[in-house]
Amino acid sequence: MELKGRDFLRTGDFSTEELGLILKKASQMKLAHKKREPVEQSLAGKSIAMLFQKPSTRTRLSFDVGINQLGGHPIYLNWGDLQLGRGETINDTGKIFGCYVDGIVARVYRHADLETLALSSPVPVINALSDEFHPCQALSDCFTIIEKKGALSGLKIAFVGDGSCNVSQSLAEAVLQLGGNMVIASPKRYCPKEEFLSELRRLAKEGAALQVTDDPVEAVKDADVIYTDVWVSMGTESEAEQRVRDLRPYQVNKDLLAISAPDSIVMHCLPAHRGGEITSDVIDGPRSVVWEQAENRLHVQKSIMSLVL
Ligand code: CP
Ligand code: NVA
Repeated sequence: MELKGRDFLRTGDFSTEELGLILKKASQMKLAHKKREPVEQSLAGKSIAMLFQKPSTRTRLSFDVGINQLGGHPIYLNWGDLQLGRGETINDTGKIFGCYVDGIVARVYRHADLETLALSSPVPVINALSDEFHPCQALSDCFTIIEKKGALSGLKIAFVGDGSCNVSQSLAEAVLQLGGNMVIASPKRYCPKEEFLSELRRLAKEGAALQVTDDPVEAVKDADVIYTDVWVSMGTESEAEQRVRDLRPYQVNKDLLAISAPDSIVMHCLPAHRGGEITSDVIDGPRSVVWEQAENRLHVQKSIMSLVL
């Protein structure tokens, strides 16, 4: 299993065994972090560009801190401040990045732009979120589920809300690859495309099932994990009113939670819109693991970086 030099654009580019290796290393890194042991300096002498086309709190901070902890040097770059904002191509930009840095962490709108960046740049590119995928979030969320439940196999993970958003799509991909059962509950117009669903079925570990429904109650019934994300993702603001109207019946609240397994956990990638996709009593309630979920981004991303860079 050679991960060094690989791009991390979506979990589907990695085998179940390779994802397992990243999770194992993340677990060791978290333990070392908790025991305040010295951190391996796998990025010593390395500079990592952090190119962001969209806002970020968690991803930007956890990558910056993680790169520093591994001995590397992060360079935050706002897309609009580069010549990219004045029309220089992504292709040329990727080549230039390769002259100076050892890796790129990038958050973009179009996933195809990330693929172009990865193709043009000789150094690994890590997806810090695109319109279609958020693989660092998803792998980290699988890490949290395994921490809380022991394993993914046999579990029912229900994503409720905008099923075609980056977080839902990457979660489904990672959960199925690692052997969990995934249910996406979404109004039909917000369901992932048929082509992507076929890809998910192909990537799923043997025995892992995928279900898509427009019924949140059916999805959450006996679920071990209830996951939601904002109804209006970055880049869809012009559809806000319509989205809020369409997705209102998919709110994660105490009535929906009551249908899930008695020991179910509630997850959200954050930022959350309280009173929108999730109510305050649920996100602040005893079943919510959202803060640990956010912390685990640091450990899992450090593991990804130390293995691919
Ligand atoms: N969950 C997540 O990626 O958060 P940010 O947009 O704050 O980075
Ligand atoms: N789906 C959300 C995730 C934010 C972390 C968005 O793209 O805005």
